[in-house]
Amino acid sequence: MTDRADLLITNIGELVTMAGTPIPRRGEDARSIPLSRDCALACGGGKVLGTGPLDDILLTVSVDQDTVELDVSGRLVTPGFVDSHTHPLYYGDRQDEFAMRAAGADYEEIAASGGGILNSVRRTREATSEQLRDTLERHLYTMLTHGTTTVEVKSGYGLDLETELRCLRVAAELSNEWPQTILRTFLGAHEVPREFMGRADDYIEYILEEVLPAVREEGLADFVDIFCEKGVFTPEQSLRYLKKAVEMGFGARIHADEFHDTGGAAVAVEVGAFSADHLLSISEDNIARIAGSSTVATLLPGTALFLGKPFPPGRRLLDAGAAVAIATDFNPGSCFCESMPFMVNLAVCQCGFTVEEAITAATVNAAASLGMGTRKGTLARGSDADMIIWDLDDYRGIAYHMAIPDIADVVVSGQPVSTVFEES
Ligand code: NIG
Ligand code: FE
Repeated sequence: MTDRADLLITNIGELVTMAGTPIPRRGEDARSIPLSRDCALACGGGKVLGTGPLDDILLTVSVDQDTVELDVSGRLVTPGFVDSHTHPLYYGDRQDEFAMRAAGADYEEIAASGGGILNSVRRTREATSEQLRDTLERHLYTMLTHGTTTVEVKSGYGLDLETELRCLRVAAELSNEWPQTILRTFLGAHEVPREFMGRADDYIEYILEEVLPAVREEGLADFVDIFCEKGVFTPEQSLRYLKKAVEMGFGARIHADEFHDTGGAAVAVEVGAFSADHLLSISEDNIARIAGSSTVATLLPGTALFLGKPFPPGRRLLDAGAAVAIATDFNPGSCFCESMPFMVNLAVCQCGFTVEEAITAATVNAAASLGMGTRKGTLARGSDADMIIWDLDDYRGIAYHMAIPDIADVVVSGQPVSTVFEES
């Protein structure tokens, strides 16, 4: 029996499939872009049924009068972006602090004086679920129009049982109604809340004893993350915390070596974390350590740009053989930007990536860092039919056009987003 196509995309000039070698990709493998030219792609039931010359596809899939044909007139088609690190579960933007920084204040100083993350925590605790949902929807929509079809969202602006659960529930509810695939990470260890001031160990104990079991019980998160940083959580606290979280069945992620080389990347390797993120200040030893491990090094160049910090050492990590992903780190304080195409540009222009390495990092490697295998980030038979139809005919144009996404449409689960939002 042949599969029935419900969407047939024809006249694709360049189809980036990203299919082939095992993921995550490193070295030479990360430098190649698997693609086909002058072809078609068939989708059915939200999956890719086949790619290749139209005549060949029509031998393997059936079409009928209800099959939608989309002639893309020679355009470029790529997998949708996978944004593997975002913080959109908050209430209240922080343009006041942004202006303070513009006038000379430092991000870490603002945080130490009770602003920063704790500022967002105060407002998030006071927010209603509807306000949280509106914020999340607004940013998910912007992500979607910039080509992000899979997104990891972190909690971490509640820092108490009630608010952390409320934020994660909002994300869980929305993921049932929203086109994108949304993965949830519990980041209760984002900062020490005011009521635990000076008692970071007690706060970690509280999360481990009271919050994480409730998160697990309700199935609210797949991953657990911690901000390992001078003045926040130490590498020892991070190790202890993540080990216990892994024992409880969560995947580990870590904000590591962002402002200071505290050794967070080594903690990631020791607990077998899916991802170690930021790494602006990673040491040479830990570059070698992460390169020899299965942990994906997730770089967030938008944060370095937004905070005026040195960019993460992309080239050194890539040359050492690390599996590297890029993500936006979208959040109200240190990177107010949802655009993956812009991150691709920054990775190339500021972090030493080739265009091919940056696209690998934003698709298949980011999917690997979320444990999604080839379901996301590739366009091959069996993968999810999530893709971007570009107003471009050459994939290099994605990185070339700075801050401007040349996107004609985005397809999620085999449905063009233009039609989804038309209907609703
Ligand atoms: O990943 N580094 C810690 N957390 C966020 C910043 C959050 C904020 O400033 O609100 C980050 O950059
Ligand atoms: Fe972050």
